[in-house]
Amino acid sequence: MERYFDLAKAKFEALKTKEDILVLGIESSCDETAVAVVKNGREVLSNIVSSQIDIHKRFGGVVPEVASRNHVLAIENVLNEALKEAGVKLEDIDAIGVTYGAGLVGALMVGVNFAKALAYSLGLPLIAVSHIEGHISANYISSPDLEPPFVCLLVSGGHTALLEVKDFTEHKLLGTTVDDAVGEAFDKVARVLGLEYPGGPNIDRLAKTGQNNIKFVNHEILGGSLNFSFSGIKTAVINYVNNRSGKVLNKADVARSFEEYVTGELTSKAMSALKQTGHKTLVVAGGVSANSLLREKLGSACKEAGARLFTPDLKLCTDNGAMIASAAYFYIKKAKGLSGLSLTPKPTVVL
Ligand code: KG4
Ligand code: ZN
Repeated sequence: MERYFDLAKAKFEALKTKEDILVLGIESSCDETAVAVVKNGREVLSNIVSSQIDIHKRFGGVVPEVASRNHVLAIENVLNEALKEAGVKLEDIDAIGVTYGAGLVGALMVGVNFAKALAYSLGLPLIAVSHIEGHISANYISSPDLEPPFVCLLVSGGHTALLEVKDFTEHKLLGTTVDDAVGEAFDKVARVLGLEYPGGPNIDRLAKTGQNNIKFVNHEILGGSLNFSFSGIKTAVINYVNNRSGKVLNKADVARSFEEYVTGELTSKAMSALKQTGHKTLVVAGGVSANSLLREKLGSACKEAGARLFTPDLKLCTDNGAMIASAAYFYIKKAKGLSGLSLTPKPTVVL
């Protein structure tokens, strides 16, 4: 084991000056088994995602044990496909980046152990990547000129936060959700409306045909802070729908009114974060960054404030291996993030 680490460390140090670096990125934190090959942090050679959505749909959400088992079944094929599509062999890879948190611990364990075994057998450096930094890095792929510093609005199924990204590997948390993540609120509202999991894209679609004409009873308690709260609005929508039995329920209006409220919150706090930090660049990351109303609102607000807005390509918004490989690359360039074989998954937020 020690011999492996010495070998991996020597390779890691040599990468600091190597011109072209190929990183294999592995992601298994939730219900997507994903492997990608990325060159120099921004050029995607392959990005294979095996989604378990169809398996979890019938339960209305992700079942952790089922997710872990399906990662085990899928991961080797996903790796082989990623190498084939990139036109490279395992021997061509310079380093392996893997998500070690946050996420479902059993699901993370599959990717982490698979990455460890690969790194050990090939004598390659193993880079521990935070899922959140992965989502931010999706923007380095979609926008090749993007560089820190900037403010990042992170909106996913597991997290909602505002971050000041000072450098590729340095972040300061400006605000976070005090209860539910915004994606969780989208999924639960979708469920009460009878829409399939994952609910976000379905709410997005349905809301386009509805009116913003319902005022939900929701007590916002966070005042002027950069923190978010979404459990109040989620419960208010669920109560509203449950109290409509026997009366007409216009689902599109519910979806639109809910979406207007949450995207309004996200936009106004993101703009406050820009003002407070003095940055003129806003970057959005995570699954909910695919939301069309959010993109529209942020677009207008940034235009008005004279700020630049960056959003990931739609296929890079949700979980994938390319964003993990990209984040690992920037750690390698800063000579940080090298992990030993004792790497263990972390269920809670790691930055
Ligand atoms: O980032 P992600 O793939 O997984 C986590 O790290 O959590 O985000 C998944 C979340 C789900 O809650 C899903 O409903 C939401 O992103 N989502 C959307 C849209 N597309 C995905 N929410 C709103 N509008 C969308 N278009
Ligand atoms: Zn994610």
